[in-house]
Amino acid sequence: MRLRLTLNGKRVVVIVPSETSLLEALRDHLGVFGVKHGCETGECGACTVLMDGEPVNTCVMLAAQADGKSITTIESIGQHPELGWRRTEGLDPLQQAFVETGAIQCGFCTPAMILAARALLAENPSPSEADVRQALSGVLCRCTGYLKPVQAILRAAAVLRGESVQSISGAFLAPPELQSGREPPPESDLSGGGSEVLTRTGILPQIQVTSPPRMWTSVGRPEPKVDAVKLVQGKPAFAADIEMRGMLVAKVLHSPMAHARIKKIDAAKARALPGVAAVLTWKDIPRVIYSTAGQSDPIPGPLDMFSLDEKVRFVGDRVALVAAESEAIAEQAMSLIQVSYEPLPALLDPAEAMKDGAPRLHDEPEYVNFGDSDPSRNLAAHIHIDIGDVERGMAEADQVFEGEYRVPKVQQASIEPHVVVTYWDEDNRLVIRTSTQVPFHVRRQLAPVLGLAPKRIRVIKPRIGGGFGGKQEVMVEDVAAHLTIATGRPVRYETTRAEEFFFARSRHPMRIRMRTGVKRDGTITANEMTVLTDTGAYGCHALTVTGNTGHKGMALYVGDGPYRKSPNIRFYADIVYTNTPPAGAFRGYGVPQGFWAVERHMERVARGLGMDPLEFRMKNTLRAGELHPFSTAWSEGREPRPETINTCGLEECIAQGSAAIGWSEKYGNAGWHRIRGKPHLRRGIGVATVMQGTAIPYLDMGGASIKMNDDGSFNLMVGATDLGTGSDTVLAQQAAEVLGVPLDDLIVYSSDTDFTPFDKGAYASSTTYISGTAVVHAAQKVAERIRWRAARMLGKGGQEAPAPDDIRLADRQAWAPDGRSVTLAEVALNALHHEDQEQIMGVASYVSPSSPPPFAAQFAEVTVDTETGAVTVNRLVMAVDSGVIVNPLTASGQIEGGMTQALGYAVCEEMVYDEAGRAREQDFTDYHIFRSDEMPELQTIFVETIEPSHPFGVKAVAEIPMDGVAPAVGNAVLDACGADVDTIPMTPERVWKALKASRQSSVLSHQEKK
Ligand code: FES
Ligand code: FES
Repeated sequence: MRLRLTLNGKRVVVIVPSETSLLEALRDHLGVFGVKHGCETGECGACTVLMDGEPVNTCVMLAAQADGKSITTIESIGQHPELGWRRTEGLDPLQQAFVETGAIQCGFCTPAMILAARALLAENPSPSEADVRQALSGVLCRCTGYLKPVQAILRAAAVLRGESVQSISGAFLAPPELQSGREPPPESDLSGGGSEVLTRTGILPQIQVTSPPRMWTSVGRPEPKVDAVKLVQGKPAFAADIEMRGMLVAKVLHSPMAHARIKKIDAAKARALPGVAAVLTWKDIPRVIYSTAGQSDPIPGPLDMFSLDEKVRFVGDRVALVAAESEAIAEQAMSLIQVSYEPLPALLDPAEAMKDGAPRLHDEPEYVNFGDSDPSRNLAAHIHIDIGDVERGMAEADQVFEGEYRVPKVQQASIEPHVVVTYWDEDNRLVIRTSTQVPFHVRRQLAPVLGLAPKRIRVIKPRIGGGFGGKQEVMVEDVAAHLTIATGRPVRYETTRAEEFFFARSRHPMRIRMRTGVKRDGTITANEMTVLTDTGAYGCHALTVTGNTGHKGMALYVGDGPYRKSPNIRFYADIVYTNTPPAGAFRGYGVPQGFWAVERHMERVARGLGMDPLEFRMKNTLRAGELHPFSTAWSEGREPRPETINTCGLEECIAQGSAAIGWSEKYGNAGWHRIRGKPHLRRGIGVATVMQGTAIPYLDMGGASIKMNDDGSFNLMVGATDLGTGSDTVLAQQAAEVLGVPLDDLIVYSSDTDFTPFDKGAYASSTTYISGTAVVHAAQKVAERIRWRAARMLGKGGQEAPAPDDIRLADRQAWAPDGRSVTLAEVALNALHHEDQEQIMGVASYVSPSSPPPFAAQFAEVTVDTETGAVTVNRLVMAVDSGVIVNPLTASGQIEGGMTQALGYAVCEEMVYDEAGRAREQDFTDYHIFRSDEMPELQTIFVETIEPSHPFGVKAVAEIPMDGVAPAVGNAVLDACGADVDTIPMTPERVWKALKASRQSSVLSHQEKK
């Protein structure tokens, strides 16, 4: 078809096959990469463009529908403010506001959000907050929680109306705040009128500094992200945004059977189809056992997977790989592959899978055990930890509370799916450009699978459109790589949204039994957790995810009095294979599962004892100066080493959070729980206290290198992978602080296995802490050379040379104590061109001996409809001790986005399989993630402590918001109406049933009392 349209103001003609979608036409035929692919069904909104001024989803439109229309994409909006001698208009006010407010995390949804907002503001220059949320409701964002995008649009609307808006960083850095504790600037009402206001437009979170004043200039600043300008312009920054001559499209033929042997597979017809470049089955590639879990060597889990096998173990397992000239041809080829299966009994329940005589999933002779894995019993891993004497502790208790809790399988649902492009470079080295959290693990783990030495592979990680643990899996790279090896051509493999649900990894579902002994005064004497985990068909992260369920969840409660010094804790777990899609890493890494059980259980214990839930928690939780109870018992399958908790701001978190939500006015106040005129509605308030870790001690390693350029700027190269979290920015801020330059003088590059130092990757909440320390050490080496050279320069011309150690770096200059200075540009020219030339450069790496836990108190306020069981979460407040906050914008963005994901875990997200093992949820209609117009009010409070093991005192912030939302909401539901729910998500049906059960039990106990 020949189409004529106006694209970004220019008339274009494009010839496409008639079945081409508008999204494909824009990306593949017109090279417009600001339009993103997040699904194929019109649900995520990532592919939004403006057609004749109206937002439309291009993935569900034929290109033919654009004939004669005017299409506006992000590429036509705004320009980089510095383009050499050419004058530019700079960024559009919407783009500028997104940059300033921290509204961009991964940036994958950002072009669509800006276009949707542009359409809104064209019609309504003074939108209310509800209007903005409505306009954004067609664009799903998995990162931000929508708070900052809404703030950005309200701010841009004000700018476009000609109103003045407050400078974010200027207000924040006023000297009094800097010196005496940082408070947010006053809130301004940009939200228009007439609707409920959920968005505080003060932008910055409240920060309660519990440490001495600091005079840092970069660390602590709400700096815009270093990659924000390119993301807000929709530049081709992501893995799929690349054009290559002769690139093939890859597809995977997936198993329709949950458990079967492939009796026969015939790909002849598929191979004969014109346009098909390769079809690979298990017969065509080497049989190499490996694990897809992206972890350090040795991988702490079984090796139990092949790229292609003669056996399939879940509906969605790989059967064949296809490469073709187009997606349509690849799909047709898949339909021509003839496969006959010998069905095997399918195991869909982990308890059944553990029974004697159960069919065996892994009978391959190549299987490699790790620890206590035992494929003959379908056991991927087993954990057995006893700390102290649990039975004695139970015997010493006045009362023992027991309960069972369940958590579902849920999906990371990053809006950018998994995507990889592979090709041979001019040296016949295999280049893997992939959306991964673990580029160095990809190279190491895939090398044997592909028959290449690691040095023959280069892995490039471009921008990532969200990962949340799902991209800690080496799951798609081998597909494209095998096909490039087979064809010699570049290959792109991008999963569909359905594949993300039935093929990609997810959060492990668990059944968790709790048993807790307590004294009458609320002292915990013993605490026990027993877990049954379903790992699915492969043991990716099987041991380590469930290990963290106990390691973090069960470490928080040590008891009081003598039990505080020698707690009694037991943690046993079986991690079992079933014929369902494998689970894997998901932000929080086992800890949200544990805290659903622990914090619901502790609420029951506190209420059972008649104690205030806050008082009970403060009495029994871990404190600074105490030994992490698990540090002597378990370390992800490695040698444990004792670790003392240096900092714990939990008590202050509880104080700050409870004040913010109004705990003392609401908890136990019968009047507050009722809503006048609506007797079927009940309000409730709940709390959960949680902890996480910061990296894996003695294992996680980050590296950094810094090179000085001849204008006094620096290249910072890190192996760490920014998956939207802002880690590139906070790493650069730490370097800028040491080097005395503005953030703008750091050019950050991450990451490429050829050019950046090794980093274990983005997981375990480790980047700011581990990679950050490596960056600081590298910067210190550079600073040392700058000081030495500056001292020598200042000693010229008969002047006295200052001692290098007395030189201070600030404002792009090296300052002597007497006030003389040379600029860093002068030092750089001196070093590179003038005198005893050298490249000033520093390289450093860091492994931590500790994993300092962040702590948090999470509060929720809900309304429950007692007739239907429907739960409305009205407000979430999180007070968190994450150590020093390097960047309040990116850190609060992490909390808001994490709380939003956790809210889905609490009330609506769940993956279910039918009796044949087929996934029920395969799109964003059946699997609901929160939209902008469905959000509760979110509030973040940082309680800063200074962690002494980091140069700037940081701990972690990325995962902890996942941990406490579900139990806080569960406890609020209990508080509202007595429904004691033990399973998430808290669907109306589950809440209604729990409510019915609670009414029956209260009738029974009433009758018993009589
Ligand atoms: S709505 Fe079009 S890509 Fe998702
Ligand atoms: S910033 Fe919205 S999906 Fe990542």
